[in-house]
Amino acid sequence: MNIGLIGSGGREHALCKKIYQSNLVKKIVCFPGNAGTSQMATNVDVDILNFKKLYKLLKFYKIDLVVVGPEEPLVKGIVDFLKNKKIKVFGPNKYAAKLEGSKAFMKKMCLKNQIPTAKFKVCKKIRDVKKFLMNCKLPIVVKADGLAAGKGVTICNSNKQVFNVSNDIFKGKFKSSKSVVLEEFLKGEEASYFVLVDENSFKFFGTAQDHKRVYEQDKGPNTGGMGAYSPAPIITKSLEKKIISRIIKPTLVALKKEKKPYTGFLYAGLMISKNNPYLIEYNIRMGDPECQVILPRLKTDIVKIFNKSISKKLNKTKIKWSEKKCMTVVLCSKGYPVKYKNNLKIKNINKINLRKEDFIYHAGTKFINDELRTNGGRVLNVTSTGIDFLKIRKRINSIIKKINWKKGYFRKDIGWKVIN
Ligand code: AMP
Ligand code: GLY
Repeated sequence: MNIGLIGSGGREHALCKKIYQSNLVKKIVCFPGNAGTSQMATNVDVDILNFKKLYKLLKFYKIDLVVVGPEEPLVKGIVDFLKNKKIKVFGPNKYAAKLEGSKAFMKKMCLKNQIPTAKFKVCKKIRDVKKFLMNCKLPIVVKADGLAAGKGVTICNSNKQVFNVSNDIFKGKFKSSKSVVLEEFLKGEEASYFVLVDENSFKFFGTAQDHKRVYEQDKGPNTGGMGAYSPAPIITKSLEKKIISRIIKPTLVALKKEKKPYTGFLYAGLMISKNNPYLIEYNIRMGDPECQVILPRLKTDIVKIFNKSISKKLNKTKIKWSEKKCMTVVLCSKGYPVKYKNNLKIKNINKINLRKEDFIYHAGTKFINDELRTNGGRVLNVTSTGIDFLKIRKRINSIIKKINWKKGYFRKDIGWKVIN
Protein backbone atom coordinates (compact mmCIF):
# COMPACT_ATOMS: atom_id res chain seq x y z
CA MET A 1 0.00 0.00 0.00
CA ASN A 2 1.00 3.62 -0.49
CA ILE A 3 0.32 5.75 2.59
CA GLY A 4 -0.14 9.53 2.62
CA LEU A 5 0.68 11.12 5.96
CA ILE A 6 -0.41 14.68 6.66
CA GLY A 7 1.54 16.90 9.07
CA SER A 8 5.09 17.92 9.91
CA GLY A 9 5.72 17.54 13.65
CA GLY A 10 7.25 15.01 16.02
CA ARG A 11 3.91 13.20 16.11
CA GLU A 12 4.05 12.70 12.36
CA HIS A 13 7.66 11.45 12.47
CA ALA A 14 6.55 8.91 15.10
CA LEU A 15 3.59 7.85 12.92
CA CYS A 16 5.86 7.71 9.88
CA LYS A 17 8.36 5.43 11.62
CA LYS A 18 5.59 3.07 12.77
CA ILE A 19 4.04 3.00 9.29
CA TYR A 20 7.51 2.38 7.80
CA GLN A 21 7.85 -0.74 9.97
CA SER A 22 4.68 -2.26 8.47
CA ASN A 23 4.99 -5.13 5.97
CA LEU A 24 1.90 -3.85 4.21
CA VAL A 25 3.56 -0.62 3.07
CA LYS A 26 5.29 0.02 -0.25
CA LYS A 27 5.69 3.80 -0.12
CA ILE A 28 5.03 6.67 2.31
CA VAL A 29 4.48 10.24 1.15
CA CYS A 30 4.46 12.99 3.81
CA PHE A 31 2.60 16.23 3.23
CA PRO A 32 4.82 18.15 4.02
CA GLY A 33 6.85 16.12 6.60
CA ASN A 34 10.15 17.20 8.17
CA ALA A 35 13.84 16.29 7.97
CA GLY A 36 13.16 13.13 10.00
CA THR A 37 10.38 11.83 7.78
CA SER A 38 12.47 12.53 4.65
CA GLN A 39 14.77 9.69 5.74
CA MET A 40 12.01 7.09 5.38
CA ALA A 41 9.43 8.75 3.12
CA THR A 42 9.03 11.21 0.26
CA ASN A 43 8.29 14.72 1.53
CA VAL A 44 6.00 16.84 -0.61
CA ASP A 45 5.64 20.50 0.26
CA VAL A 46 2.00 21.62 0.12
CA ASP A 47 -0.45 23.73 2.12
CA ILE A 48 -2.36 21.01 3.99
CA LEU A 49 -5.47 23.20 4.14
CA ASN A 50 -5.61 23.42 0.33
CA PHE A 51 -7.65 20.22 -0.05
CA LYS A 52 -8.02 20.45 -3.83
CA LYS A 53 -4.27 20.64 -4.36
CA LEU A 54 -3.72 17.90 -1.83
CA TYR A 55 -6.23 15.69 -3.63
CA LYS A 56 -4.34 16.11 -6.92
CA LEU A 57 -1.09 15.11 -5.21
CA LEU A 58 -2.72 12.09 -3.55
CA LYS A 59 -3.86 10.91 -7.00
CA PHE A 60 -0.45 11.61 -8.51
CA TYR A 61 1.34 9.53 -5.86
CA LYS A 62 -1.33 6.79 -6.05
CA ILE A 63 -2.04 6.96 -2.33
CA ASP A 64 -4.23 4.14 -1.00
CA LEU A 65 -4.77 5.44 2.52
CA VAL A 66 -4.43 8.88 4.11
CA VAL A 67 -3.55 9.34 7.78
CA VAL A 68 -4.11 12.83 9.20
CA GLY A 69 -1.86 13.98 12.06
CA PRO A 70 -2.92 17.52 13.09
CA GLU A 71 -6.30 18.94 14.08
CA GLU A 72 -6.72 21.85 11.69
CA PRO A 73 -7.39 19.92 8.46
CA LEU A 74 -9.69 17.58 10.42
CA VAL A 75 -11.70 20.46 11.88
CA LYS A 76 -11.90 22.01 8.40
CA GLY A 77 -13.39 18.78 7.01
CA ILE A 78 -10.60 16.96 5.19
CA VAL A 79 -12.14 13.56 5.95
CA ASP A 80 -15.52 14.45 4.41
CA PHE A 81 -13.75 16.02 1.41
CA LEU A 82 -11.53 12.99 0.69
CA LYS A 83 -14.28 10.43 1.34
CA ASN A 84 -16.47 12.23 -1.22
CA LYS A 85 -13.61 11.76 -3.68
CA LYS A 86 -13.49 8.03 -2.76
CA ILE A 87 -10.11 8.26 -1.04
CA LYS A 88 -9.65 6.13 2.08
CA VAL A 89 -8.81 8.26 5.08
CA PHE A 90 -8.28 7.63 8.80
CA GLY A 91 -9.70 10.38 11.02
CA PRO A 92 -12.99 11.89 12.24
CA ASN A 93 -15.61 13.60 10.08
CA LYS A 94 -16.08 17.38 10.25
CA TYR A 95 -19.03 17.22 12.65
CA ALA A 96 -17.29 14.87 15.11
CA ALA A 97 -14.12 16.99 14.84
CA LYS A 98 -16.04 19.77 16.61
CA LEU A 99 -15.20 17.90 19.82
CA GLU A 100 -11.88 19.74 19.51
CA GLY A 101 -12.85 22.49 17.06
CA SER A 102 -15.44 24.05 19.37
CA LYS A 103 -15.12 24.00 23.14
CA ALA A 104 -18.76 25.15 23.36
CA PHE A 105 -19.86 22.12 21.29
CA MET A 106 -17.87 19.76 23.49
CA LYS A 107 -19.17 21.24 26.77
CA LYS A 108 -22.80 21.22 25.59
CA MET A 109 -22.41 17.58 24.57
CA CYS A 110 -21.10 16.81 28.07
CA LEU A 111 -24.05 18.57 29.68
CA LYS A 112 -26.59 16.78 27.51
CA ASN A 113 -25.06 13.36 28.19
CA GLN A 114 -24.09 13.77 31.87
CA ILE A 115 -20.37 13.48 31.12
CA PRO A 116 -18.35 14.76 34.11
CA THR A 117 -16.66 18.08 33.30
CA ALA A 118 -16.10 21.51 34.91
CA LYS A 119 -19.15 23.76 35.43
CA PHE A 120 -19.26 26.21 32.49
CA LYS A 121 -21.01 28.94 30.56
CA VAL A 122 -20.78 29.76 26.87
CA CYS A 123 -20.69 33.57 26.59
CA LYS A 124 -21.42 35.66 23.53
CA LYS A 125 -21.42 39.04 25.29
CA ILE A 126 -19.71 40.58 28.32
CA ARG A 127 -23.12 40.54 30.06
CA ASP A 128 -23.00 36.71 30.04
CA VAL A 129 -19.51 36.87 31.59
CA LYS A 130 -20.80 39.02 34.47
CA LYS A 131 -23.60 36.54 35.18
CA PHE A 132 -21.17 33.61 35.44
CA LEU A 133 -18.87 35.55 37.77
CA MET A 134 -21.72 35.94 40.25
CA ASN A 135 -22.02 32.16 40.62
CA CYS A 136 -18.42 30.91 40.39
CA LYS A 137 -15.39 31.27 42.65
CA LEU A 138 -11.94 32.29 41.34
CA PRO A 139 -9.74 31.09 39.70
CA ILE A 140 -11.82 30.93 36.53
CA VAL A 141 -10.65 29.41 33.29
CA VAL A 142 -11.34 31.51 30.17
CA LYS A 143 -11.25 29.72 26.83
CA ALA A 144 -11.61 30.81 23.23
CA ASP A 145 -14.29 28.62 21.65
CA GLY A 146 -12.39 27.63 18.50
CA LEU A 147 -8.90 26.34 17.66
CA ALA A 148 -6.19 28.63 19.02
CA ALA A 149 -2.98 26.62 18.59
CA GLY A 150 -2.72 25.98 22.35
CA LYS A 151 -2.94 29.70 23.20
CA GLY A 152 -6.67 30.01 23.83
CA VAL A 153 -6.82 29.07 27.53
CA THR A 154 -6.10 31.46 30.43
CA ILE A 155 -6.45 30.67 34.11
CA CYS A 156 -7.64 33.95 35.68
CA ASN A 157 -7.19 34.96 39.30
CA SER A 158 -9.26 38.17 39.29
CA ASN A 159 -12.59 39.29 37.85
CA LYS A 160 -10.74 42.05 36.00
CA GLN A 161 -8.54 39.50 34.25
CA VAL A 162 -11.62 37.45 33.29
CA PHE A 163 -13.16 40.59 31.71
CA ASN A 164 -9.98 41.57 29.88
CA VAL A 165 -9.24 38.12 28.47
CA SER A 166 -12.89 37.62 27.45
CA ASN A 167 -13.02 41.05 25.81
CA ASP A 168 -9.90 40.30 23.78
CA ILE A 169 -11.56 37.15 22.46
CA PHE A 170 -14.85 38.97 21.67
CA LYS A 171 -12.81 41.58 19.79
CA GLY A 172 -11.36 38.85 17.55
CA LYS A 173 -7.99 37.91 19.09
CA PHE A 174 -8.54 34.41 17.70
CA LYS A 175 -10.11 34.44 14.27
CA SER A 176 -11.71 31.07 14.94
CA SER A 177 -13.64 32.28 18.01
CA LYS A 178 -16.52 34.64 18.54
CA SER A 179 -17.60 33.00 21.80
CA VAL A 180 -15.90 32.52 25.13
CA VAL A 181 -16.26 29.48 27.37
CA LEU A 182 -15.88 30.20 31.08
CA GLU A 183 -15.17 27.29 33.38
CA GLU A 184 -14.77 26.57 37.04
CA PHE A 185 -11.16 25.61 37.90
CA LEU A 186 -10.71 21.88 38.53
CA LYS A 187 -8.08 20.70 41.01
CA GLY A 188 -6.26 17.42 40.61
CA GLU A 189 -3.72 15.67 38.41
CA GLU A 190 -3.92 15.75 34.62
CA ALA A 191 -3.61 12.64 32.47
CA SER A 192 -4.38 11.73 28.88
CA TYR A 193 -6.33 8.67 27.75
CA PHE A 194 -6.37 7.56 24.12
CA VAL A 195 -8.69 5.34 22.12
CA LEU A 196 -8.84 4.32 18.48
CA VAL A 197 -12.39 4.29 17.16
CA ASP A 198 -14.29 2.81 14.22
CA GLU A 199 -18.02 2.95 13.53
CA ASN A 200 -18.71 -0.21 15.56
CA SER A 201 -16.25 -0.25 18.45
CA PHE A 202 -13.18 1.27 20.01
CA LYS A 203 -9.85 0.06 21.40
CA PHE A 204 -7.58 1.34 24.15
CA PHE A 205 -4.65 3.22 22.60
CA GLY A 206 -2.48 4.13 25.55
CA THR A 207 -2.16 6.62 28.39
CA ALA A 208 0.35 9.43 28.89
CA GLN A 209 1.13 12.54 30.84
CA ASP A 210 2.75 15.58 29.36
CA HIS A 211 4.38 18.77 30.66
CA LYS A 212 2.82 21.86 29.11
CA ARG A 213 4.80 24.64 30.82
CA VAL A 214 8.09 25.69 29.31
CA TYR A 215 10.22 25.82 32.49
CA GLU A 216 11.13 23.33 35.18
CA GLN A 217 8.75 22.88 38.14
CA ASP A 218 5.92 23.55 35.67
CA LYS A 219 6.58 27.29 35.53
CA GLY A 220 6.39 29.79 32.64
CA PRO A 221 4.01 30.00 29.70
CA ASN A 222 2.13 27.06 28.20
CA THR A 223 3.67 25.30 25.20
CA GLY A 224 2.58 22.52 22.87
CA GLY A 225 4.33 20.15 25.31
CA MET A 226 7.91 19.95 26.63
CA GLY A 227 8.00 16.22 27.23
CA ALA A 228 5.81 13.23 28.02
CA TYR A 229 5.86 9.69 29.31
CA SER A 230 3.74 6.59 28.94
CA PRO A 231 2.03 4.81 30.63
CA ALA A 232 0.47 7.24 33.12
CA PRO A 233 0.53 5.32 36.42
CA ILE A 234 -2.35 7.43 37.80
CA ILE A 235 -4.70 5.67 35.36
CA THR A 236 -5.39 2.45 37.25
CA LYS A 237 -7.75 -0.31 36.08
CA SER A 238 -10.56 1.00 38.31
CA LEU A 239 -10.11 4.56 37.05
CA GLU A 240 -10.02 3.30 33.46
CA LYS A 241 -13.44 1.68 33.90
CA LYS A 242 -14.84 5.05 35.00
CA ILE A 243 -13.17 6.87 32.07
CA ILE A 244 -14.75 4.43 29.62
CA SER A 245 -18.22 4.25 31.15
CA ARG A 246 -18.61 7.92 32.12
CA ILE A 247 -16.73 9.69 29.32
CA ILE A 248 -15.70 7.66 26.25
CA LYS A 249 -18.82 5.51 25.71
CA PRO A 250 -21.41 8.29 26.25
CA THR A 251 -19.48 10.49 23.78
CA LEU A 252 -19.36 7.83 21.07
CA VAL A 253 -23.03 6.93 21.62
CA ALA A 254 -24.05 10.60 21.43
CA LEU A 255 -22.32 11.07 18.05
CA LYS A 256 -23.80 7.84 16.71
CA LYS A 257 -27.28 9.02 17.68
CA GLU A 258 -26.67 12.15 15.64
CA LYS A 259 -25.75 9.93 12.68
CA LYS A 260 -22.19 11.29 12.73
CA PRO A 261 -20.25 8.41 14.27
CA TYR A 262 -16.70 9.10 15.46
CA THR A 263 -13.75 7.38 13.75
CA GLY A 264 -10.01 7.91 14.22
CA PHE A 265 -7.84 8.60 17.24
CA LEU A 266 -9.65 10.20 20.18
CA TYR A 267 -7.64 11.80 22.97
CA ALA A 268 -9.34 12.64 26.25
CA GLY A 269 -7.51 15.27 28.35
CA LEU A 270 -8.60 14.49 31.91
CA MET A 271 -8.38 15.94 35.38
CA ILE A 272 -8.23 13.19 37.99
CA SER A 273 -9.69 14.31 41.27
CA LYS A 274 -10.19 11.89 44.21
CA ASN A 275 -9.91 8.94 41.81
CA ASN A 276 -12.68 10.34 39.57
CA PRO A 277 -12.12 11.49 35.98
CA TYR A 278 -13.36 14.87 34.63
CA LEU A 279 -13.09 15.76 30.98
CA ILE A 280 -11.02 18.93 30.42
CA GLU A 281 -10.83 18.68 26.65
CA TYR A 282 -11.11 16.34 23.72
CA ASN A 283 -8.52 16.23 20.97
CA ILE A 284 -9.50 14.48 17.77
CA ARG A 285 -6.01 13.20 16.97
CA MET A 286 -2.94 11.80 18.70
CA GLY A 287 -1.18 14.15 21.10
CA ASP A 288 2.17 15.73 20.37
CA PRO A 289 4.48 14.72 22.16
CA GLU A 290 2.23 11.96 23.61
CA CYS A 291 2.26 10.06 20.30
CA GLN A 292 6.06 9.85 20.50
CA VAL A 293 5.83 7.89 23.78
CA ILE A 294 2.80 5.74 22.96
CA LEU A 295 3.80 4.42 19.52
CA PRO A 296 7.19 2.97 20.60
CA ARG A 297 5.16 0.75 22.99
CA LEU A 298 2.79 -0.49 20.25
CA LYS A 299 3.58 -4.05 19.11
CA THR A 300 0.82 -4.53 16.50
CA ASP A 301 1.23 -3.38 12.88
CA ILE A 302 -0.32 0.10 12.81
CA VAL A 303 -1.33 -0.11 9.14
CA LYS A 304 -3.22 -3.33 9.87
CA ILE A 305 -5.04 -1.44 12.65
CA PHE A 306 -5.89 1.44 10.28
CA ASN A 307 -7.20 -1.01 7.66
CA LYS A 308 -9.34 -2.88 10.19
CA SER A 309 -10.70 0.38 11.49
CA ILE A 310 -11.63 1.63 8.02
CA SER A 311 -13.42 -1.64 7.25
CA LYS A 312 -15.23 -1.35 10.63
CA LYS A 313 -13.61 -4.54 11.96
CA LEU A 314 -11.69 -3.11 14.88
CA ASN A 315 -13.59 -5.39 17.26
CA LYS A 316 -11.85 -8.36 15.60
CA THR A 317 -8.38 -6.88 16.08
CA LYS A 318 -6.07 -7.50 18.99
CA ILE A 319 -3.78 -4.58 19.77
CA LYS A 320 -0.66 -5.60 21.69
CA TRP A 321 1.46 -3.33 23.87
CA SER A 322 4.95 -3.62 25.32
CA GLU A 323 5.26 -3.65 29.11
CA LYS A 324 8.15 -1.18 28.77
CA LYS A 325 7.91 2.48 29.69
CA CYS A 326 8.71 5.32 27.34
CA MET A 327 9.67 8.97 27.78
CA THR A 328 10.41 11.82 25.42
CA VAL A 329 12.10 15.16 26.13
CA VAL A 330 11.53 18.05 23.76
CA LEU A 331 14.60 19.96 22.70
CA CYS A 332 13.37 23.38 21.62
CA SER A 333 14.92 26.58 20.33
CA LYS A 334 15.88 29.00 23.12
CA GLY A 335 13.09 31.55 23.51
CA TYR A 336 10.26 29.15 22.57
CA PRO A 337 7.25 29.60 22.91
CA VAL A 338 7.56 33.40 22.84
CA LYS A 339 10.27 34.37 20.34
CA TYR A 340 12.87 32.16 18.72
CA LYS A 341 14.97 31.97 15.59
CA ASN A 342 14.48 29.59 12.68
CA ASN A 343 17.09 28.15 10.32
CA LEU A 344 19.60 27.43 13.11
CA LYS A 345 22.14 24.70 12.38
CA ILE A 346 22.13 21.45 14.39
CA LYS A 347 25.40 19.65 13.83
CA ASN A 348 26.02 16.55 15.85
CA ILE A 349 22.90 14.48 15.49
CA ASN A 350 24.30 11.94 13.02
CA LYS A 351 27.39 11.29 15.13
CA ILE A 352 25.42 9.91 18.06
CA ASN A 353 25.31 6.16 18.63
CA LEU A 354 21.74 5.33 19.53
CA ARG A 355 20.79 2.00 21.11
CA LYS A 356 17.80 0.14 19.72
CA GLU A 357 15.61 1.47 22.57
CA ASP A 358 16.44 5.12 21.76
CA PHE A 359 15.09 7.30 19.00
CA ILE A 360 15.33 10.96 18.06
CA TYR A 361 12.09 12.12 16.47
CA HIS A 362 12.30 15.30 14.45
CA ALA A 363 9.70 18.05 14.91
CA GLY A 364 10.61 21.52 13.55
CA THR A 365 13.49 20.51 11.26
CA LYS A 366 14.39 20.64 7.59
CA PHE A 367 17.41 19.88 5.44
CA ILE A 368 19.01 22.69 3.47
CA ASN A 369 21.74 21.32 1.20
CA ASP A 370 22.07 18.27 3.46
CA GLU A 371 22.51 20.47 6.52
CA LEU A 372 20.04 20.01 9.37
CA ARG A 373 18.32 23.29 10.28
CA THR A 374 15.55 24.28 12.67
CA ASN A 375 12.11 25.00 11.27
CA GLY A 376 9.96 25.72 14.33
CA GLY A 377 10.11 26.09 18.11
CA ARG A 378 10.00 22.45 19.16
CA VAL A 379 12.89 20.92 17.25
CA LEU A 380 13.76 17.38 18.38
CA ASN A 381 12.07 14.81 20.64
CA VAL A 382 14.72 12.66 22.28
CA THR A 383 12.98 9.44 23.21
CA SER A 384 13.93 6.24 25.00
CA THR A 385 12.24 3.14 26.44
CA GLY A 386 13.09 0.98 29.44
CA ILE A 387 11.79 -0.32 32.73
CA ASP A 388 12.50 2.63 35.00
CA PHE A 389 11.57 6.26 34.30
CA LEU A 390 14.58 7.68 36.15
CA LYS A 391 17.02 5.54 34.16
CA ILE A 392 15.22 6.42 30.93
CA ARG A 393 15.48 10.14 31.71
CA LYS A 394 19.20 9.82 32.48
CA ARG A 395 19.70 8.08 29.14
CA ILE A 396 17.77 10.84 27.31
CA ASN A 397 19.74 13.56 29.08
CA SER A 398 23.00 11.89 28.09
CA ILE A 399 21.90 11.84 24.43
CA ILE A 400 20.94 15.54 24.60
CA LYS A 401 24.33 16.30 26.10
CA LYS A 402 26.00 14.62 23.12
CA ILE A 403 23.87 16.62 20.67
CA ASN A 404 25.41 19.60 22.46
CA TRP A 405 23.24 22.13 20.67
CA LYS A 406 24.08 25.46 22.25
CA LYS A 407 20.95 27.25 20.99
CA GLY A 408 18.62 24.62 22.36
CA TYR A 409 16.73 24.38 25.65
CA PHE A 410 15.06 21.41 27.38
CA ARG A 411 13.52 20.58 30.75
CA LYS A 412 15.57 18.26 32.92
CA ASP A 413 12.62 17.37 35.16
CA ILE A 414 10.26 15.61 32.73
CA GLY A 415 8.44 12.87 34.62
CA TRP A 416 8.99 14.38 38.09
CA LYS A 417 5.59 13.14 39.23
CA VAL A 418 6.57 9.52 38.57
CA ILE A 419 10.23 9.84 39.56
CA ASN A 420 10.34 11.75 42.84
P1 AMP B 1 -7.26 22.84 27.14
O1 AMP B 1 -6.76 23.49 25.89
O2 AMP B 1 -8.74 22.94 27.32
O3 AMP B 1 -6.70 21.49 27.36
O4 AMP B 1 -6.56 23.64 28.33
C1 AMP B 1 -5.17 23.74 28.44
C2 AMP B 1 -4.74 23.48 29.86
O5 AMP B 1 -5.41 24.41 30.74
C3 AMP B 1 -5.13 22.11 30.39
O6 AMP B 1 -4.19 21.13 30.05
C4 AMP B 1 -5.16 22.38 31.89
O7 AMP B 1 -3.86 22.39 32.43
C5 AMP B 1 -5.71 23.78 31.98
N1 AMP B 1 -7.18 23.76 32.16
C6 AMP B 1 -8.12 23.83 31.20
N2 AMP B 1 -9.36 23.80 31.72
C7 AMP B 1 -9.21 23.68 33.05
C8 AMP B 1 -10.13 23.61 34.16
N3 AMP B 1 -11.44 23.68 33.99
N4 AMP B 1 -9.59 23.50 35.40
C9 AMP B 1 -8.25 23.47 35.59
N5 AMP B 1 -7.34 23.55 34.61
C10 AMP B 1 -7.82 23.66 33.35
N1 GLY C 1 0.38 17.71 24.03
C1 GLY C 1 -0.92 18.26 23.94
C2 GLY C 1 -1.58 18.13 22.66
O1 GLY C 1 -1.17 17.43 21.76
O2 GLY C 1 -2.64 18.76 22.49
